[in-house]
Amino acid sequence: MKTEVIEGIAVVVISRPEALNALNTRFFNEMDDYVNKIKNDSSIKALVITGEGKAFVAGADIAEMVDKTSEEGSAFSVLGQHTFSSFGELGIPVIAAINGFALGGGLELAMGCDFRITSSKAKFGQPEVSLGLIPGYAGTQRLSRLVGLGDALYLLMSADMIGAEDALRIGLVQKVVEPEELMDAVMKLAKTITSKGPSAIKKVKQVVRQGLEMSLKEGEELEAKEFGSLFGVGNEGKEGMEAFLEKRKPNW
Ligand code: CAA
Repeated sequence: MKTEVIEGIAVVVISRPEALNALNTRFFNEMDDYVNKIKNDSSIKALVITGEGKAFVAGADIAEMVDKTSEEGSAFSVLGQHTFSSFGELGIPVIAAINGFALGGGLELAMGCDFRITSSKAKFGQPEVSLGLIPGYAGTQRLSRLVGLGDALYLLMSADMIGAEDALRIGLVQKVVEPEELMDAVMKLAKTITSKGPSAIKKVKQVVRQGLEMSLKEGEELEAKEFGSLFGVGNEGKEGMEAFLEKRKPNW
């Protein structure tokens, strides 16, 4: 994979186009190292993940998986689950810029991100059953949470590939743009988000994600606590509200 930082926005390009960016152990190790590197770097305000060539990612590397034992298969599943969960734990927005095929592990990678912007030419699917497999990087869990039971089971059982407009319709992606506009649109959106209160962005992500695992009552309690934490002298909400009332830009 290739990485660069553009005005505080880290961009990861998954770069094995000859294998349609299929995910192997080396990728997961590199991605984990990169996430650990940016985790405590306050100059990094957002992470964008995209793919090189005609695919975003066409799935887990079938050539690496084919000879694995049952135990090794489970370990390869846990490896990917861990990496994709780590995106949710980062205190910055993580955006998938889907440039082409997002299949199997590739769609699971995209679903581990906070949200997804796609090229109108991209294709989406969970084709694992065609290989006699099921998704192993939390696709059986995240897909139904994102799109609901019916659309998830349809995609998982049919192995059907859907286009960008259908992905938008079921809520799998949040925005469709023309292929040549993808990176500009994603970078512009990342800049908009990073112009907001950084603690508010971090907390909105944390409260929404943790809330998904809680009862409504527990989620409300967490929200009230974190809402309050932004008030008071020296805190971001105080500055944001004062700036609004004084008709000036906030100093985060
Ligand atoms: N793993 C390993 N290699 C892959 C791959 C994958 N997931 N997907 C594509 N490749 C390789 C192909 O083998 C081919 O290599 P060679 O040139 O050496 O033959 C190269 O990438 C180009 O692919 P195609 O020639 O097949 O390209 P195409 O344009 O004709 O077809 C495609 C594109 C429809 C995406 C097709 O490549 C395809 O069906 N790929 C597999 C998709 C898939 O089944 N993904 C799920 C994997 S399992 C998984 O992800 C499990 C999990 O959840 C953990």
